[in-house]
Formats: sequence, C-alpha cells, structure tokens
Amino acid sequence: MNRMDPVVVRHPLAQCHLAAIRAKETPPDQFRRHLNLLARLLFIEATKDLSLDVVVVETPIKQTLGARLARPLVFAPILRAGLGMLDGILPLMPDAVVAHVGIKRNEETALPQSYYASLPANLAAADVFLLDPMLATGGSACEAARQLKTAGAARIRMICVVSCPAGLLAMERAHPDVQIITAAIDEGLNDKCYIVPGLGDAGDRYFGT
Ligand code: PRP
Ligand code: URA
Repeated sequence: MNRMDPVVVRHPLAQCHLAAIRAKETPPDQFRRHLNLLARLLFIEATKDLSLDVVVVETPIKQTLGARLARPLVFAPILRAGLGMLDGILPLMPDAVVAHVGIKRNEETALPQSYYASLPANLAAADVFLLDPMLATGGSACEAARQLKTAGAARIRMICVVSCPAGLLAMERAHPDVQIITAAIDEGLNDKCYIVPGLGDAGDRYFGT
C-alpha cells in the first residue's frame, strides 16, 4: 500500500483548542473541555469521505432519499489519554462500538508495554478509528494498530492531536495503510521522548494525576 500523507487540520477553531491544551496553566477541567472539542473537530475531518448507503426515508410530507454509514464504526482509544478523545467523539455517533487498547510507555525506555485489550468481534467489517492525543516515538500507535489488524481490522484511521516526524515515520514504515489525522506536526522529541513543544503528559493533564 502506498504511503498516505498525514492530514493536518488547520481549521481556526481546532487551532484555538490546541493552543488552550498546550498552555501549561490550563487546569484539568478546561483541558478536558478543549480536548473533547478538538477531538470532535478532528473526527469530523477524519470521517468526511466515509462510504454511505442510500436509504428511503418517509418524512411527514413525502418519501425522499437519505443516507446511512455503509460500515459500522469502531472507536479504539489507547488508554489512558485516548479516553479523553473518546469522550468528545462518542456523542456524535453513540451507536459506535468501543474497543479498548491498554498500552503504557516504559518510563525508562519509552517502549510500549501492552497491559490490556478488549477488541470487538466486528473489526473486519468496520471503519476503525484509533484515538490517542500524542504520537511521539510512534511505539504505542504501531503496537495498537498491530493488535487491531491481528484481530481483523482492515480499515484503520488514526486521530491524534499532536504528532511529530519520528512518530509519523514509525507509522508510515509499520502501517502505511493507516491514514493519520492530526492538528499539528511538532518539531521533534526531547531526551525523554516527549514531544517538543507538545503539551506535556496528556494522560496526567486529562486525569489530573
Ligand atoms: C502517552 C500517549 C501515547 C504515548 C505516545 O501515553 O497518550 O499513548 O504516550 O508515546 P509514543 O508515541 O512514544 O508511544 P502513556 O504511555 O504516557 O500512558 P498514559 O496515557 O496512561 O499516561
Ligand atoms: N506521551 C505524552 O503524553 N506526551 C508526550 O509528549 C509524549 C508521550
């Protein structure tokens, strides 16, 4: 499969929410609000070319044609911070199925450690949205996409708030078929593998830990 360029969402509202969650003085309640809303904007961009089926609708006045999604949706947040994106997106498609992928970076090595997975049976038929605010080394996203594909997923898109060249390159090499939708491609990583300028530790900021 040919490489797909990442989609960078430069919508003014997305960029305002991004600036708010980057700011170190933003408290957890406001961080949650801005992350939820930013995830929603990114999701709208990420779904704009989903396939539709035509359906017949009876309005109170007349029969007309409408649309429904051709395939079921599965949201796959990477725990913990991906839950912050799920909270913003799920109200838009409340009948979506939610997979859970528990992956934590080792604090010494920055390598991903998988500790939990709950994957639904309908992955092969679904449009799957991998959710994580941060794409740093890309280790967590690569491992999550691997798990989803092993369980049958064939159409995966990843929505992340802040990405960087190293993470994008890792995903391009391991999963060139996964389209990435992001609000920013930052400069790079620091010596602790945190994104620069980034926003710090997304999970800690979202959950106030
Ligand atoms: C963060 C983030 C990603 C991962 C990104 O999670 O939410 O999952 O790091 O880093 P990577 O691209 O180098 O793998 P973390 O491991 O800190 O877990 P948490 O969400 O539970 O805090
Ligand atoms: N995980 C985060 O939460 N932030 C980073 O910058 C890198 C990994």
